[in-house]
Amino acid sequence: MIGRDLLGIEDLERGEIELILETAERMKEVGRREVKKVPTLRGRTIVNLFFEPSTRTRTSFEIAGKRLSADVVNFSTSGSSLKKAESILDTAKTLDAMDPDAVVVRHQVAGVPKQIADALDAPVINAGDGAHEHPTQALLDLLTVWEEKERVDGLTVTIVGDILHSRVARSNIYGFLKMGAEVRLAAPPPMIPPGVEALGVKSYTSLREAIDGADVVMVLRIQKERLEGAFFPSIREYAATFGLDRAKLRYAKDDAIVMHPGPVNRGVELAHDLADHRPSVILDQVRNGVALRMAVLYLLAGRAPKDGEPAEEER
Ligand code: NCD
Repeated sequence: MIGRDLLGIEDLERGEIELILETAERMKEVGRREVKKVPTLRGRTIVNLFFEPSTRTRTSFEIAGKRLSADVVNFSTSGSSLKKAESILDTAKTLDAMDPDAVVVRHQVAGVPKQIADALDAPVINAGDGAHEHPTQALLDLLTVWEEKERVDGLTVTIVGDILHSRVARSNIYGFLKMGAEVRLAAPPPMIPPGVEALGVKSYTSLREAIDGADVVMVLRIQKERLEGAFFPSIREYAATFGLDRAKLRYAKDDAIVMHPGPVNRGVELAHDLADHRPSVILDQVRNGVALRMAVLYLLAGRAPKDGEPAEEER
């Protein structure tokens, strides 16, 4: 995959997803060492270009790059002055002139990472664009499920919440379907994208039906700032009908796990005690995020071994 962009899970084949997950498994070992560093990307430069706030994603890309010995540069900005496509392309060209080996982009507008990728030689990794895709989040979610359940094929995964605005949901729908899971969506009707069933998922407006027999329940953040009034009558009502707590979770399988990409609105989409304890695996998702991003950086920004040379990771 060297030199390729990672813009969305929609573009990946099952074999590529498996390669990324297997590579991430191997990268986890580095995180357990006393000296958490390998020389794999020494002398390479990774630029983190974040036009939208981020805690987990930006820091985990930074830690991932550093564990591989790359030089990581963070370039953050509060969108406003760079919203026009023209300025984005100028930014991309400026970056290109600095010869980065990978550029990680988050932007509030769908499609911007693709625009930047078209203008750059270096591989571009989408770290979340508008409501479009967030591929590394879906990959770390797949890794977490894979580790917990030792398979993804044949599992039932229910995604609960604001599917309409969620790039996490979109990437996970593609990812879990490609890996052979059954995907169900649960939300108030206005939060279910029209026509989504065409992707091969089932949608429900009853949480109970949607999680009946599920192996994985993935809860999404309610974006309070944008949604109240327009999509459901009140936060309290949403919490009562779609907020996940232990009582509602009883309908899922006995060994079901609960996931959330973070940040969590405690007491709204997820009960406090579920946010902190098993069966929720939220901190495992964060931990896997570092290994997964190491794998992606290694696979995309590594250097292909020349004939007869050992692979980079063996050096
Ligand atoms: C998500 C995002 O930004 O898309 N968070 C993340 O990357 N872990 C989800 C959200 O903000 O609700």
